[in-house]
Amino acid sequence: MAHVHDVLVVGAGGSGLTAALFAARHGANVGVISKLYPTRSHTGAAQGGIGASLGNVDEDHWEWHMYDTVKGGDYLTDQDVAEVFAREVVDAVIDLEHMGLPFDRLPSGKIAQRRFGGHTKEFGKEPVHRAAHAADRTGHMILQTLYQQSVKRGITFYNEFHVLDLIFSEDGRAIGLVAMEFATGQLHTFMAKTIVIASGGYGRMFKVTSNAFTLAGDIQALIYRTGWIPLEDIEFFQFHPTGLYRLGILVTEGARGEGGILRNSEGERFMERYAPSIKDLAPRDMVSRAMYLEMQAGRGCGPNKDYICLDLTHLDPDIIEHKLPDIAEFSRTYLAVDPLKEPIPVVPTAHYAMGGIPTTIWGEVVKDGDSTKVPGLYAAGESACVSLHGANRLGTNSLGELVVFGRRAGLAAARYAEKESFTDLPPNATDKSRELLERLKANENGDSPFAIRRELQETMMTNASVYRTEELLGKQVEILKDLHERYSTVTIQDKGEQYNADLIDALELGSLLDVAEALVHSAKNRKESRGAHAREDYPDRDDENWLKHTLVYKEATGKVRFSYKPVVLGRFEPKPRVY
Ligand code: FUM
Repeated sequence: MAHVHDVLVVGAGGSGLTAALFAARHGANVGVISKLYPTRSHTGAAQGGIGASLGNVDEDHWEWHMYDTVKGGDYLTDQDVAEVFAREVVDAVIDLEHMGLPFDRLPSGKIAQRRFGGHTKEFGKEPVHRAAHAADRTGHMILQTLYQQSVKRGITFYNEFHVLDLIFSEDGRAIGLVAMEFATGQLHTFMAKTIVIASGGYGRMFKVTSNAFTLAGDIQALIYRTGWIPLEDIEFFQFHPTGLYRLGILVTEGARGEGGILRNSEGERFMERYAPSIKDLAPRDMVSRAMYLEMQAGRGCGPNKDYICLDLTHLDPDIIEHKLPDIAEFSRTYLAVDPLKEPIPVVPTAHYAMGGIPTTIWGEVVKDGDSTKVPGLYAAGESACVSLHGANRLGTNSLGELVVFGRRAGLAAARYAEKESFTDLPPNATDKSRELLERLKANENGDSPFAIRRELQETMMTNASVYRTEELLGKQVEILKDLHERYSTVTIQDKGEQYNADLIDALELGSLLDVAEALVHSAKNRKESRGAHAREDYPDRDDENWLKHTLVYKEATGKVRFSYKPVVLGRFEPKPRVY
């Protein structure tokens, strides 16, 4: 079956829906392909807030937000991007409010804001109230609001479609794609003047993660497999400090923003030692490392000393029930812990990919260190790397990024589509996808996707998570080679067409393996510590050699190749990052 759209968006989370909406408002005929029903997209799991210097509680300025973002990113953030972001996110939040988003309110009627990690006033002086929120369901509300607006606009949705291949013309323009419909197993072709990738992250390569099952980096893997479009800064992966013990389910940083405290087994508020000025509201990379160090020093909580206590017991119960209702319920349901009465057991959880598909400030995908554009191809949100978050994202800046850069990508794609005409897809456009599916179904006697994925997740957690060394990363390179080898005969039980979840598991596993390869090689290559990339064997940041973005390519021979892109510096000179 063939479909035609001016602008085709892949992904129906916050960035995809924003891009779709703004492209449609510009007059484009827009289609959205999603693996899920849009309101189940992972944006719905973002809890604590969207950061913008509205100044509704404390005095605030976009420059302060920009500074925090650059410093939070350990100076790998491109400063032109951070400036655009900090300025435009203010209007973007007001735009969401006008679309109907039910933000919490202050008694004055203004949008309520709470404190969040790394967000400060007067360039680092003390925490500022910057996160506009709707209880601890902010992402959920954003998603519902954007979806309602998209339906109102008459945007066409292709729900439960799995993208298998991106199609480029001979001169390297993105002209369409091939996707499989989950319900029927049928292949569909999509011809488009522009494609906007907004397909989210790939936290599922780690054992403990806040990410949904679907976050497998499918499109990042397709990009990496092209061999001529790279992934950028993929070595930087964020561990959020507070995932529910063993499960990884997110416990919002908003809990600490509302006054929650992290304590070790001695009851000590240990963050006072690691970040004396902003303590529990230090950026996530620092808090996660501090938690690991406390556990390593034998000060973890519980019989195995393998978690940290998030103490909310001193808070007004009204705050917990009304401003943090979801996390209170998660804690009661999954751990049988009532946060009103006892601390919540938490551990760092794989949360967010800072790296992704490289783009310009308008979401145009680029293919090299000179920022040469790939015509017709755009990306936004977690699947992209516009270089806003640098080496470590601040909490609340992902929701802001979705709306600011989703809007820019959608508009840019619609403007490009206005000038371009369609290019016919080659007659054999579906061959590669068909062969892939046939091969996966034909395999016999190999490992199941589940067995390979479990090994991937466990070893990535041990060898490539919060702390890394040459030795561990080298070991993981070898493990990945072996897992790739075993993947070549991965065997599924369901050989049918309709709702073949087994087949989807196998496809997703292939994506996770490829993106893990890019991540581990890039992490091994970067011989310094910066933001979320902490090398025990290179403990210092090395601006002389490493103040640059990594671009990683997979060559046709299978070899991994690196290239680099300069960081855009600006008003904030790189300095030691202390809080
Ligand atoms: O902690 C949180 O609510 C997560 C927010 C984010 O990742 O931005």
